[in-house]
Amino acid sequence: MNEIDALLTEERKFPPPPKFVANAVVNDPAIYDEAERDPEAYWAREAARLEWIQPWTQVLDWTPPHFKWFVGGKLNAAANCVDRHALGPRRDKPALIWEGEPGDKRTITYGELYSEVTRFANALKSLGVTKGDRVAVYLPLIPEAAIAMLACARIGAIHSVVFGGFSPDSLRDRIIDAEARVLITADGGYRRGGVVALKANADKALAETPSIEHVVVVQRNHGTSSEQISCSMQQPRDLWWHELMQKAPEGGDPVPMDAEDILYILYTSGTTGNPKGVVHTTGGYMTAVTSTTRNVFDLREDDVFWCTADVGWVTGHSYLVYGPLSNGATCVMYEGAPDWPDKDRFWALIAKHKITILYTAPTAIRAFMKWGDQYPARHDLSSLRLLGSVGEPINPEAWIWYSRHIGHDRCPIVDTWWQTETGSIVISPLPGITSTKPGSATFPLPGCSADLLDSNGRSIPVGGGLLALTRPIPSMLRTVWGDDERYRKTYFSKWPGRPDLYFPGDGAKRDEEGFYWILGRVDDVLNVAGHRIGTMEVESALVEHPAVAEAAVVGKAHELKGQALAAFVTVRASHQSSPELATELKQFVADKIGAIARPDDIIFAADLPKTRSGKIMRRLLRDIAEGRALGDTTTLADAAVVEGLKQQYESLEP
Ligand code: PRX
Repeated sequence: MNEIDALLTEERKFPPPPKFVANAVVNDPAIYDEAERDPEAYWAREAARLEWIQPWTQVLDWTPPHFKWFVGGKLNAAANCVDRHALGPRRDKPALIWEGEPGDKRTITYGELYSEVTRFANALKSLGVTKGDRVAVYLPLIPEAAIAMLACARIGAIHSVVFGGFSPDSLRDRIIDAEARVLITADGGYRRGGVVALKANADKALAETPSIEHVVVVQRNHGTSSEQISCSMQQPRDLWWHELMQKAPEGGDPVPMDAEDILYILYTSGTTGNPKGVVHTTGGYMTAVTSTTRNVFDLREDDVFWCTADVGWVTGHSYLVYGPLSNGATCVMYEGAPDWPDKDRFWALIAKHKITILYTAPTAIRAFMKWGDQYPARHDLSSLRLLGSVGEPINPEAWIWYSRHIGHDRCPIVDTWWQTETGSIVISPLPGITSTKPGSATFPLPGCSADLLDSNGRSIPVGGGLLALTRPIPSMLRTVWGDDERYRKTYFSKWPGRPDLYFPGDGAKRDEEGFYWILGRVDDVLNVAGHRIGTMEVESALVEHPAVAEAAVVGKAHELKGQALAAFVTVRASHQSSPELATELKQFVADKIGAIARPDDIIFAADLPKTRSGKIMRRLLRDIAEGRALGDTTTLADAAVVEGLKQQYESLEP
């Protein structure tokens, strides 16, 4: 039996446009062979893009499942992101172009960023923060978030950013696990016109976090809205950011960090248990994010780069802060929702700031498809030259829509597969070299080695299987904070006796040309009458239907088949749901993939349950489809969505 059946075939293939190839930062395919012959030499060359205070003596020290990169080397991440540009040729170049949701704006040059970061680093020092201390960051997407992260990195403090949309309980658990000494937050941030009262949330968490000595509060809400929220300050614990900054001097030397010293902890939820504190170190992480930002996004001096992720996620860490700034790029940062005040906010931002590279998520792209083509059509998107996608498999139809309506069939798309744990992009096209197929993340990047294995560890050349990374990548996690056993168990014990193989938890398929297609989390794989079906392919078949914007497929117990498929579907604004459409969709899937994948139930939904980072929560849909009580809903972005679906599903049952 196959590990996972490969069901869909995708024939469309897009070579990189010749004009793009001619000017691309990387356009010589020899890079793959060279890196394959000697991956350590490849990474050593990429590491040379950074400024090192002291050179390394060994590139890789690998004792599975542990590894160290650039042993003996010393550097400072913030100095690489700020000082070398500010004190060099990019002093007056914009580093951050920020727009708040209400429309307020700030442009911060590298010179100004140097002043802000060094002053805040000195402010942290004045609070007694030193190398190795943990600092929690719970902020809206405002420049202070990047400044706080970089200030921590400058003095060697370990930041732990907690997404501003998380609840007081989530914040509390993360602070306790990391034993953070300082929390940096704001009075409030903006989301869909309302104010999220971050300090009030933080105060609830702080009632149970004895490790916190000081709370630094950014005045974000003050003066930017008629809706002022109350923000109580507890003396002497709580301090205003702007008051600390007034007293703090500029400058000072960055702390030399060992390549293997921790840069940050970022919590990510597992399928079970508490969130895991993913530990990233300095030298390897900075090498890989600097390299992939340049190579995957074809970054040039005059680019205006917009990664739409929040700093609360790894994408925000690697491709909003560390990767682009290390390359001296101009980054756009937008605080708010894509549909505020209207559903064209992203497109307005692109036109206004002449953004050249857009990096966003399939969940956003599917929302744009659902809202309709008229919103991007209102704006001049001709500045764009490259598009990126990350976070979930992108359905081929969403890929085509993105290419056509946003990229106007001119812009290559990089579908980038990676994880919080890998720290940087692992499987992705290089836009000046790789032909793309909609829905495929294509090939492992130079210096990265992957394989598709069955559960016995045998390689599957063509077909579906378990994705494995077969060599450590410089930016991969080093451990789980405070729980190395969990590190071994979660990531390096899938194939007994092979602690060298990293298991990311994803299923994938490989086609005859070696293209990788990520099929989603293996926990989501279904078994229908002995066929192992990845949810992604059935969902992609549904999204090909012109009425469908988004689909989530789950298994429910079935007497004969073991599992049957239930499909939750949202309909595009231009179409209407109906029993006839449900019948049509079932047949549509059967025609595309085969009768084996025909859903038993089609449930039309106004919205699908998602995590706060936008991933569909199939686990909750399974609970609904099987009539169970809902499992843990704490990571759900909007609780009302599942309750509505549950009622709707129950009314369907005979
Ligand atoms: O299942 C894969 C999916 O997202 C997971 C990682 O999630 P997270 O740690 O939150 O990081 C998201 C940002 C890197 C992966 O295990 N995933 C991410 N990118 C893709 C993807 N699935 C398919 N295609 C992608 N491009």
